[in-house]
Amino acid sequence: MKHLPRLFENNRAWAAEVLRNDPAFFTRLSRQQAPSYLWIGCSDSRVPANQIVGLMPGEMFVHRNVANVFVHSDLNALSALHFAVAVLRVSHVIVCGHYGCGGVLAALRGDRHGLVDNWLRHVSDVRDKHRARLAPRGTEAEEHDRLCKLNVVEQVLNVTNTTVVRDAWARGQSLAVHGWIYGIEDGLLEDLGITGTSEAEVAATYAQAVEALAGFSSTPSAPASAPSRPPG
Ligand code: CO
Repeated sequence: MKHLPRLFENNRAWAAEVLRNDPAFFTRLSRQQAPSYLWIGCSDSRVPANQIVGLMPGEMFVHRNVANVFVHSDLNALSALHFAVAVLRVSHVIVCGHYGCGGVLAALRGDRHGLVDNWLRHVSDVRDKHRARLAPRGTEAEEHDRLCKLNVVEQVLNVTNTTVVRDAWARGQSLAVHGWIYGIEDGLLEDLGITGTSEAEVAATYAQAVEALAGFSSTPSAPASAPSRPPG
């Protein structure tokens, strides 16, 4: 192989390994896919969707972009969502962010990188939407973590506000939308508690999730003997 020989070698070894465990694997998959999940995640190379949840090809439909943003007018994301929900009939849509997201950090800082700034403006909008209630506090790293989570919560809301999800629920299709965050430092997933199987449930869990983030504290609780802060 002339170009990227290591990748082709890896591919042959992988395909052989899969066939050793299941000789009919590719033949079966070539006939149809029937995934139960749609994953909407960040393009970050450290967050490989199938691998971190231990799923094989055929088990999860995947859409990834910088900072796992779901914008109402993004035809690419909407098409993936529509195909997954209306055609493949997945039961779960998972919006998964991750700690240490460079896109979220750029949005938090207002850094200038070029074209991508316009895309990340959606994450800055999330920051600004909650600015009044969630005043910046703590270290930048803590603010970064919080915006990574808040971004997931908002993108879950965006997914559930689409005609795709609303129509699925209106016709009685069983569909749950979840908000998760992944830790690059420990490889573990965390459920942010914004799961919805109806518009009412999303509204309730959205409010709870934002409230939980508003209660985020960067400093340990003051000891009982410490003088209380002056009012105001
Ligand atoms: Co990221």
